[in-house]
Amino acid sequence: MRFFLDTANLEELKTGARWGLVDGVTTNPTLIAREGVPVEEQIRKICDIINGDISAEVVATDTDGMLAEGRPLSRIHKNVVVKVPLTRDGIRACSILSGEGIRVNVTLCFSAGQAILAAKAGAYFVSPFVGRIDDTGWHGMELIRDILAIYKNYGFATQVLAASLRHSVHVMEAAKASAHVGTMPFKVLDGLFNHPLTDKGLEQFLKDYEKAFHGAPVVR
Ligand code: E4P
Repeated sequence: MRFFLDTANLEELKTGARWGLVDGVTTNPTLIAREGVPVEEQIRKICDIINGDISAEVVATDTDGMLAEGRPLSRIHKNVVVKVPLTRDGIRACSILSGEGIRVNVTLCFSAGQAILAAKAGAYFVSPFVGRIDDTGWHGMELIRDILAIYKNYGFATQVLAASLRHSVHVMEAAKASAHVGTMPFKVLDGLFNHPLTDKGLEQFLKDYEKAFHGAPVVR
């Protein structure tokens, strides 16, 4: 599973890049607004940090407006994927942009039926929101499994980008389901490192080594 960071924060992206773990980035209007920098400028900076698919979302709600925003967004950098919402206008925009060779991420997907529409419209990614479905008292991960099964039945090329992942278990379950991509906030990526037995084991190794060799280096 490819790991995307769901953030527009440059420091978080730099840290993720230093770890060598970030295969791409998803942004949305909320995340861009949080950084307070215009979309085009921020996406350009993100493309300088991460060499992978970078989703940049339109804010227009009608097809013509989405096309007018999506086309220039796609020209910012070859890695930009234009993100449109899963609405009637968004699906129409997806068909047109995909027909022009522009890669589209159809976002705000909450049902397998919606995911079929995205695939039929030629989406490059569909983004089902796992955590937000969990918030409604349902099983978000079931949606990931259902979409993957349906896409496999018909050989759809659209990749399933498991979004709204809120914790390590979401990441592991999305990977178990074979989602193509998991996008997660920085704190979720950071949390994947943690295990108390790793900390305890390391502490014991260092203590035992120090007792025997009194600070001598491993190699000279
Ligand atoms: C996906 O592309 C969205 O930006 C994101 O995953 C939404 O996550 P949230 O529900 O935690 O806001």
